[in-house]
Amino acid sequence: MALLPILQYPDPRLHKVAKPVATVTEQTRKLIRDMAETMYAAPGVGLAATQVDVHERIVVIDVSDTHDKLQVFINPTLTSSSGAEESEEGCLSVPGIYENVTRAERVMVSALDEQGKAFTLEADGLLAICIQHEMDHLQGKVFVEHLSHLKQTRIRAKLIKQRRETL
Ligand code: NI
Repeated sequence: MALLPILQYPDPRLHKVAKPVATVTEQTRKLIRDMAETMYAAPGVGLAATQVDVHERIVVIDVSDTHDKLQVFINPTLTSSSGAEESEEGCLSVPGIYENVTRAERVMVSALDEQGKAFTLEADGLLAICIQHEMDHLQGKVFVEHLSHLKQTRIRAKLIKQRRETL
């Protein structure tokens, strides 16, 4: 296993649109293991392949308190969503920034697991938020892009300044 470097906003590669996985192979499973290790080490509750500069529709999530309930979503699609809920989000690609985002309260997602087997899952709470946040990444969208342009400009300036100071 290996820790993968996580792209940092505003890296333009975060805006690439991921392609569907044609066949789930051993290589896909190796990437998933590395993504999970990277997510747990960060630590974070979700990671999209886009964030490690692999532009395939793969997401790993673990919202459990015990950090041992990995959920894998390959080629995820939302089949339905309902309600609206505002909650504070953060992102491993946008360190130190936490902002409120409104998303659907409940979602139904269809995807493949790491064996290539199709499943459907109904989610609410943190898992529903996380699924929507990670699926945004696959579309090349970072959570701060749900905010006003003024806020986005401020966040970009802050992150660029922070990075310059740590170099
Ligand atoms: Ni994120």
